[in-house]
Amino acid sequence: MTSADIARLPRHIAIVMDGNGRWAKLRHRPRTFGHNAGRKAVRAVVESCLREGVKVLTLFAFSSENWRRPEDEVSALMELFLRALDKEVDELHGNGVRIRFVGDLNAFDAGLRQRMLAAMARTAGNDALHLNVAVNYGGRWDIVQAARKAAEAVARGELRAEEIDEQLLGHWMCLSDLPPLDLFIRTGGECRVSNFLLWQLAYAELHFTDTLWPDFDHACLKSAIEDYARRERRYGRTGEQVAQKA
Ligand code: IPE
Ligand code: IPE
Ligand code: MG
Repeated sequence: MTSADIARLPRHIAIVMDGNGRWAKLRHRPRTFGHNAGRKAVRAVVESCLREGVKVLTLFAFSSENWRRPEDEVSALMELFLRALDKEVDELHGNGVRIRFVGDLNAFDAGLRQRMLAAMARTAGNDALHLNVAVNYGGRWDIVQAARKAAEAVARGELRAEEIDEQLLGHWMCLSDLPPLDLFIRTGGECRVSNFLLWQLAYAELHFTDTLWPDFDHACLKSAIEDYARRERRYGRTGEQVAQKA
């Protein structure tokens, strides 16, 4: 790989894994069949990131709004998370993957929360790939929890309100210790963000694909990365300024 190729490789990819329900419907099967099939796609994309040298992968597994789904679908998803935690963590750990769950974990039952915390603790020393799984996550929740931390620091007298700026607030947002988000992918054909990483998306490149999540494979990831490599990231500057810097 040349240094130009490495510069064009996103360091941090986030994915809205959408389309499991429609994938199942096409096969006349229940929605949970699609969620189970989605688990294989998660394994494939993790392997692809390890293979391609992507350092951070953030997956949207359950939004703060997904509690609104029918009770049996929510329970089936919780079951699936439990099974995945029991079955996948060993192999992920063996491959040097660091797992982190981001979102308000307090909403989950104690057994599931314990397993999430244990997986995070066990893999905390790994560095081959940072795998963040967003569960009961909402981009607005993320901004609110950061604002609350800032307010608490002001109340304790450790910070003056006028000292709060983008950098300081950004420091309290989820994933702020990791490389900034480069590439946002949404499968399933919808062109919306659905309350995913609102703050972190400010200058990410967006890639939407009609592929339903269970069908997303190595070739799909490669094509998203190639799409990203063709983008010119200007951050407010002109194309000429960017060309001069390169
Ligand atoms: C995404 O697939 C998985 C979760 C939200 C948990 P969906 O279940 O939203 O699938 P569609 O959009 O109904 O096809
Ligand atoms: C977003 O998908 C959440 C996840 C993929 C976990 P949804 O299917 O819930 O999004 P909407 O409801 O279509 O916006
Ligand atoms: Mg959906």
